[in-house]
Amino acid sequence: MVGQITPEFKQRLLARVDIVDVVGRRVPLKPAGHLFKACCPFHEERTPSFVVTPDRQTYHCFGCGVHGNAIDFLIEHDRLSFPEAVEELAQRAGMELPTGDEPVAKGPDLKPILATLEHAARLYHDQLRDHARASRAIDYLKRRGLSGEMAKRFDIGFAPPGWDFLLTRLGQGPAEQELLVHAGLLVERTGKHYDRFRDRIMFPIRNRRGQVIGFGGRVLGDGEPKYLNSPETPVFHKGRELYGLFELQQQRGPARILVVEGYMDVIALAQADLPFAVATLGTATTPEHVRVLLRNTRELVFCFDGDRAGQAAAWKALQTTLPLVTGRQPVRFLLLPQGEDPDTLVRTEGRDGFDARIDHAELLSDFLFNRLLAKLDMRTTEGRAQLDAEARPLIESAPQGTFRALLEARLDALVGIPTRPAPGAPRRPRQAGRPGTATPLTAPRLAIALLLENPRLATRAQSIPGDWRDPENAGARLLGDLLDVIAACPTISAAALIEHWRGSDRESVVNRLSDPGLIAHIPTEGKADELVGAIRRMGERARQERRQQIMRDKRRASDLSEQDKAGLRGRPRPTTEEPPAT
Ligand code: UTP
Ligand code: MN
Repeated sequence: MVGQITPEFKQRLLARVDIVDVVGRRVPLKPAGHLFKACCPFHEERTPSFVVTPDRQTYHCFGCGVHGNAIDFLIEHDRLSFPEAVEELAQRAGMELPTGDEPVAKGPDLKPILATLEHAARLYHDQLRDHARASRAIDYLKRRGLSGEMAKRFDIGFAPPGWDFLLTRLGQGPAEQELLVHAGLLVERTGKHYDRFRDRIMFPIRNRRGQVIGFGGRVLGDGEPKYLNSPETPVFHKGRELYGLFELQQQRGPARILVVEGYMDVIALAQADLPFAVATLGTATTPEHVRVLLRNTRELVFCFDGDRAGQAAAWKALQTTLPLVTGRQPVRFLLLPQGEDPDTLVRTEGRDGFDARIDHAELLSDFLFNRLLAKLDMRTTEGRAQLDAEARPLIESAPQGTFRALLEARLDALVGIPTRPAPGAPRRPRQAGRPGTATPLTAPRLAIALLLENPRLATRAQSIPGDWRDPENAGARLLGDLLDVIAACPTISAAALIEHWRGSDRESVVNRLSDPGLIAHIPTEGKADELVGAIRRMGERARQERRQQIMRDKRRASDLSEQDKAGLRGRPRPTTEEPPAT
């Protein structure tokens, strides 16, 4: 048995393995400057946005946002547990795993519980075909229009009527019965055991490794409760699991995931060829859910019924999601008409109708403001103050970065708090810095701020001679790295670009320079020219410094070599500004 993996061991292991090797054995990597890139193995794409950075020993996808170290990669890519990933890497690196004399796993052993659940799923599955009373269940599913293919894909079963179906088959002795109780399949009351699920359509719930961890059971027709779910067990935690996620992951990297409320919604959508829905299990969306989902897709769409409860649930989901969004992956909200759910709607509107609804789902930012604005009178000072009071704390729960800054700017604009310089103030600040900000805008900082806001501007920097790349200058180094990342990944979004430096020693400077306020004074159409101008000034400055250096070195030399003379002359200076690009 493997002993405890200490953080110290983990660090030693990570120092020993090379992520380029680990990833490269699973994904064809292409060198790109000091990076390696590939089409992301975690989502469908044609142009590569998956980057491995040997310096930092990390990977990062600018498309879907996955990132991490070699261990994370194996967990995500090979679907290994943490100890399995460590074991795999240690083996390759020829490192001995800690054996650990200390007792290993605490709490109940999960393996027999999982085996019992798997066994139960098989029995339920067989009953839908074989049990004498199954025809009612089959009729019910047919009436709901469920196809045989979906019944198979979602492994739908039938728990027959009676109190002891599982009990007699799997609960021979007291130990087996206790196991069934732990698995949530038997209920114990006053010393007696009986089946939890009776006369119900059974939906097995799988974890992301495909193991059955629980069930949802629906009554045939009317009856209470309509759905009975497995209780929390050592293997089943509602707040962490999502119905349909495993089935959805069988196709690679869906571009979007739709979060719906019901089992049948997931299945009806899959049947209508919209196989990217998951359902929360009768609970509100948790941060854990959102984290898992954002790791698995590029776009997240929450779908709720349009009734009061649905609206409240949507708002709750917004509050849960905000602390986790960076704007890198769009999050949308789709509220359905009153009395409809995805199951009913996709049947009446068809695939395309429902798909169009998803396409038009409100962006999180719009949903946030529109919900609040709908109930406020913005013509009054009170209404605007109210908006500020309600929206500001929500927005402040979002992580620092461009997305949050943009939400704040939008709120300021709505509330009417002036953000522009007062009339009479200089319209264009001095080159060296913008009055009133803590960050003086030197040329490198200006260039970096412009690129962080809009990475597309980088195309304008391509034609500029590279002599501004001064390794002694931190700003020039960061600018160079920015341009390299953008060159490796030309479609990168601003938010993703900022994210690239998260956790590095340059995170804070990147955060500071990604403040859109720094360059808010520059009109959009002038930004490309400002970038070119700033980089040219850097080149000028670097050349000037080189000239001075040569002068210092050779001050006493009576004769300068031809090469020195050329260096002193530098490049011919342009007499006029570059014409704007066409
Ligand atoms: P709904 O009441 O919206 O049911 O519950 P539904 O999904 O439309 O079910 P059908 O179409 O009538 O079969 C949505 C979800 O809430 C949970 C279940 O997870 C269900 O899928 N729920 C609902 C329960 O856990 N228990 C209940 O009694 C009802
Ligand atoms: Mn329904």
